[in-house]
Amino acid sequence: MASTAGASTPTSKSKTTSANGKAASASATSRAATAAKSTRAKSGGKAAMTDEGATASVTAKSTSRASAQSGAAPDMQESVKELFVAMLKDIYYAEKQILKALPRMAKAARSDELKQAFEQHREETAGQIGRLEQVFAAMGMKPKAEQCEAIEGILEEGKEVMEDFKGKPALDVGLCGAGRAVEHYEIARYSAMKSLAQHLGMKDAAKLIDANLAEEMKTDKLLDQSAQALLLAKDAARA
Ligand SMILES: [Fe+2]
Repeated sequence: MASTAGASTPTSKSKTTSANGKAASASATSRAATAAKSTRAKSGGKAAMTDEGATASVTAKSTSRASAQSGAAPDMQESVKELFVAMLKDIYYAEKQILKALPRMAKAARSDELKQAFEQHREETAGQIGRLEQVFAAMGMKPKAEQCEAIEGILEEGKEVMEDFKGKPALDVGLCGAGRAVEHYEIARYSAMKSLAQHLGMKDAAKLIDANLAEEMKTDKLLDQSAQALLLAKDAARA
């Protein structure tokens, strides 16, 4: 998320909505009907809406009916969609920053294997950006990046490792750790986004997000193995 304030918005919004839902449970049915009407009006107004958008709309309607029965807030589905879009813009920005950082990390790495791992992940990252653009397109939106201070901080730490350990034996192990910090951030975001996409009935988006998630998990494992191999090699050299 761009900032703590930005990240807290959906939470505080959902808390408020939840409180309203409890307080006004007697009128939940009529509010749900209004929300369903509003969802129909919105989806009808977007002539170019894709299957993803349409599916999300249908799911929203059925959720509104379920909400009416359970007394839950009828606009939860719209709020979840808003959250998904915010996270999509955030990770789109993050991937673009990572794309720029990976060549720096490859250049800094001393071992050929690690250089190759970073270069290979740079190519994967370019593909991941393409998949995110497909998700934007499936939702009838143009790709848009929102500044993500979290990834900027993580990448800044990676720069510090490069500077502080330049010429030192542990440099590559430190780079593996810096790379894993990036992967773990991405894994957390993509895992959450996959759940949201599935909840919204956006099957194609969920598949695209899952493809990115699988690559991040594979890279995380690879960097872990690289660090272990580097440490073992140091041990062997010392023996
Ligand atoms: Fe990525």
